[in-house]
Amino acid sequence: MEQKIKNIITSFYADEKLEAVKLLNNRVIITLIGEADEKADEEIKQKIYDFGTIDKVSIIHTAEKTPQATGAASPFEEKWKISGVKKIIGVASGKGGVGKSTTAVNLALALANLGKKVALFDADIYGPSIPTMLGYADEQAESLDGKVLEPFMNMGIASMSIGALVGKESPIIWRGIKAVGAIEQIITGTKWGEIDVMVMDMPPGTGDVQLTLSQKVDLDGMVIVSTPQDIALIDAIKGVNMFKKVDVPILGIIENMSYYICETCGTRADIFGHEGAKKTAEKLGVKFLGEVPLHLNIRENADNGTPIVFAEPEGKFTKIYEEIAAKVIETLGD
Ligand SMILES: Nc1ncnc2c1ncn2[C@@H]1O[C@H](COP(=O)(O)OP(=O)(O)OP(=O)(O)O)[C@@H](O)[C@H]1O
Ligand SMILES: [Mg+2]
Repeated sequence: MEQKIKNIITSFYADEKLEAVKLLNNRVIITLIGEADEKADEEIKQKIYDFGTIDKVSIIHTAEKTPQATGAASPFEEKWKISGVKKIIGVASGKGGVGKSTTAVNLALALANLGKKVALFDADIYGPSIPTMLGYADEQAESLDGKVLEPFMNMGIASMSIGALVGKESPIIWRGIKAVGAIEQIITGTKWGEIDVMVMDMPPGTGDVQLTLSQKVDLDGMVIVSTPQDIALIDAIKGVNMFKKVDVPILGIIENMSYYICETCGTRADIFGHEGAKKTAEKLGVKFLGEVPLHLNIRENADNGTPIVFAEPEGKFTKIYEEIAAKVIETLGD
């Protein structure tokens, strides 16, 4: 099948233009280097649909070859062009499962509440959860002109996720250079519009993909999410040090699942200890942005596609996220 598709493409575009053909269930994503020929694209798509087994064909044209994950910082490396976007902040964590995506989505909505035009980009190729959190898990990303992707416009923010291209049940098979290439195609190939702040949900961890991303995206700062346990904080410190090494400013640390308030009696319990992230921030000389408690409503709303900041606009948790958003804006400037 892949070879058949390649043959079709090369009959319209010369061999050296074909960068990649990805087959995912009954979808095909084709990447070509250079100028698009709309008529050729249409004919390629039609020929592939004629197989009768493919539901969706996406053809992406990129200006140049996808970057190599070098693993080393180079001041001469060119940044990706993400047009219309003024500031970009990353939300990262050293460790997975600490609430990075929940924080990214609620922070994005809180920034919008403070009057910013906001975009949320899900760069977590290993577990894209933004489509679920923003309620479009069953939808596909669309391109009206066959070239650029239309961002989703939900809850007042623009967003895009690799999950909306490959579907939530598909395994994410890209690793290393391929993963970075896929992220580049999607982030630079989306029609974002005029955006004040883009929030980027980074893949968890501090490996090659994270490092390359932080070199290729013109990041204005990084927010690090950690839970209060020592083990999570050790990874958060690794994250801070990695981003510092490649000159990405650290906007600060957020302590997520910081404490628990009993639903019935209102008593606060510091299940994982207290102020671990605050002390770590002080030790590292970075800002402490705030603490978000562990609460059932935060979990249920995020997992059901109505994040707490959207579901409870006047609620106490929304206030917490808005205070964090205000600190982020203050540090970023205009
Ligand atoms: N403050 C909180 N209170 C209660 N539940 C939370 C809170 N923050 C996150 N969660 C829940 O914890 C789980 C993990 O959160 P999330 O998916 O945001 O983490 P993540 O760091 O993005 O994970 P991954 O590494 O898998 O991408 C989710 O079910 C989420 O709803
Ligand atoms: Mg996540």
